[in-house]
Amino acid sequence: MSQIRLSNISKVYDARPATANKILAMMAQGADSIQVKEQTGYSVGLYDINLTIDSGELHCIMGLSGSGKSTLVRHINRLIDPTTGEIWIDSPLNPDGTAINILTLNDKALQKFRQSTVSMVFQHFGLVPHMTVVQNVAYGLRVRGVKKSQRHEIARHWLNEVGLDGLEDSYPDELSGGMQQRVGLARALAVDTPIMLMDEAFSALDPLIRNQLQDQLLELQSKLKKTIVFITHDIDEAIKVGQRISILNQGRLVQTGTAMELKNNPVNDYIAEFMNANT
Ligand SMILES: Nc1ncnc2c1ncn2[C@@H]1O[C@H](COP(=O)(O)OP(=O)(O)O)[C@@H](O)[C@H]1O
Ligand SMILES: [Mg+2]
Repeated sequence: MSQIRLSNISKVYDARPATANKILAMMAQGADSIQVKEQTGYSVGLYDINLTIDSGELHCIMGLSGSGKSTLVRHINRLIDPTTGEIWIDSPLNPDGTAINILTLNDKALQKFRQSTVSMVFQHFGLVPHMTVVQNVAYGLRVRGVKKSQRHEIARHWLNEVGLDGLEDSYPDELSGGMQQRVGLARALAVDTPIMLMDEAFSALDPLIRNQLQDQLLELQSKLKKTIVFITHDIDEAIKVGQRISILNQGRLVQTGTAMELKNNPVNDYIAEFMNANT
């Protein structure tokens, strides 16, 4: 069952509709986003993305810096509105859990959608420095009006799950980077949304710690079976954690598949080179 469906999503930053249309026409004729930037001054974040992510899938979005990964993931919780296209997301807000066209939501409905459906883990952790670890993890529940004893119990449960027992009353700056990101993970899990977005969540960590967090994520996911959109610029990380991988290049989605599919049947040299670099 699909959980997230992006249909013909394009994003031209900061352009009025008429300009955006011209730029999309250039892209349709095969221009690349670097040429467009040089000729028009506008940035194409994404061009004509069609992507379906299944419920319970850990899906990696991989690409070099500037390829559109953050632009893509920010469409899923509508931090960014697309220039064209539709975004359909299965949400517990609908009684039967069916898909919502999130571009139709007003501010209030969007806020409810985010709270119920999508959580996020950030590259630089995004913890609140003057709150303790347990308060940080419980924060999303506090916003939802869950009473203190209950939200702290839930937060302690998730801290235990990510291996941070006994650190509830510490402050973020007393923890290492790896531990801070475990708090970030616990915070995202505590709100119990079906979708979790991770934008380069492990990229700031040292290789050893990063490896440990990848293992932790895979272990948690084997139990939780959330829909996780995991952004990385590192093909090795994508191959290790992703059930499927989508590779972006200059705003275009080049290929989606399992690591094996990309390796055995690359659609072009660009994909083949990425996959051969990893042997
Ligand atoms: N807020 C913005 N305003 C204008 N251009 C942007 C903005 N955010 C990203 N871009 C441009 O969109 C393209 C894709 O960026 P981004 O999605 O951040 O890539 P990635 O996350 O893969 O590094 C880049 O050319 C970038 O400069
Ligand atoms: Mg990015």
